Amino acid sequence: MTPHDTASRMTAWQVDPAGTRPGLRKLRLAVPIPAAGEVLVRLGAASLNYRDLLVSRGFYGATQRPVVAGSDGAGLIAAVGDGVDPARIGQRVAGAFFPDWTDGPVTAARRARSLGAQLDGVLAEYVVLPAQAAIPVPDHLSDSEAATLPCAGLTAWHAVTAAGLQPGMTLLLQGAGGVSVMALLFARMAGLRVLQTASTADKADRLRALGAEHVLASGAGSDWATEILALTGGLGADAVIDIGGPGSLALSARAVRVGGTIVSVGFAGDGPGLDIRQIVGRAITLRGITVGSCAMFADMNRAIAAARLRPVIHRRFSFDEVPEAYACLEAGGHVGKIVVEIADTEAGAASSADNKGSEP
Ligand SMILES: NC(=O)c1ccc[n+]([C@@H]2O[C@H](COP(=O)([O-])OP(=O)(O)OC[C@H]3O[C@@H](n4cnc5c(N)ncnc54)[C@H](OP(=O)(O)O)[C@@H]3O)[C@@H](O)[C@H]2O)c1
Repeated sequence: MTPHDTASRMTAWQVDPAGTRPGLRKLRLAVPIPAAGEVLVRLGAASLNYRDLLVSRGFYGATQRPVVAGSDGAGLIAAVGDGVDPARIGQRVAGAFFPDWTDGPVTAARRARSLGAQLDGVLAEYVVLPAQAAIPVPDHLSDSEAATLPCAGLTAWHAVTAAGLQPGMTLLLQGAGGVSVMALLFARMAGLRVLQTASTADKADRLRALGAEHVLASGAGSDWATEILALTGGLGADAVIDIGGPGSLALSARAVRVGGTIVSVGFAGDGPGLDIRQIVGRAITLRGITVGSCAMFADMNRAIAAARLRPVIHRRFSFDEVPEAYACLEAGGHVGKIVVEIADTEAGAASSADNKGSEP
């Protein structure tokens, strides 16, 4: 292992979903040492996902031991294990959500381990990653912006590409959360017409400012599927990225055109779910996706760099304020991502100098 000058102890936020003390706790742990084929990353920032709430409450399954929380983080490579090019020290990277899914289609083995659930995550000063899962991030992004990419960003990228649309076609998105706002940015980048739902008027204003053509009110009793039909000449959207699951799939199936695609990403809402006859009779393709591979992450980063795209950050919290950041996510008033700033890494500090524009 290449020598590094890190302290031997670090601060981390841990969850113990299967234990007697659910929720988050802050503690001191040994700085992990990279084994052969691994890198040690000094984290600059992390971002939160809906899934972090599920993990902390023990609703995520397969989390058998206390783990460092959080899947999405970015920072600098501080040290490398045997067999890893020492020139990577100092490289700015983000960790892949599924470190074992390097390329190709998803398999059970490739998605078996994820950061912040089966593997220690990124709400810590340091994390060890397999070298191939430490993905270089676009130079124009700060650590905070790059930390929004591993789960929400890549899921949105995967979902928009899986929808298989051409420029000018219509994509329906749901809400102003992390995945849907990134999907809006990617969809606009691809020249798609975006129709979107939002649960509040403030969120609707923000989504319109980000490029949504029409924003429809969601929430109890709303029938945005009928409005989508009216906005699409009675045909329906070419594709939908579904976030609400049981709370939205029936509406999504009415809002998509005959022969269209529903990319099923989330299950954030409660409701009656789906009558399968809506799918069969109208020849709809229903496709579930789960985050994405390291190769997809690299593809996404290339597109983000080319378009100089900047993720939308709703609010930043300090590393001491992780419980407050979780509470902010749970309150559900956010547009885009909630970020925890962990350390001012050298490159992150330099690149964040021109990053003032993404917060509302
Ligand atoms: N398959 C995957 O790989 C993958 C990856 C990431 C996330 N997810 C899932 O995707 C969902 C969103 O994740 P996130 O991190 O973006 O969450 P988030 O930032 O916490 O946002 C929650 C989102 O859920 C929306 N929502 C709530 N109830 C809904 C309903 N009945 N119908 C439609 N939308 C509803 C909210 O809409 P408003 O903004 O309008 O209130 C908001 O956009 C979660 O279920 C999460 O577990 C799946």
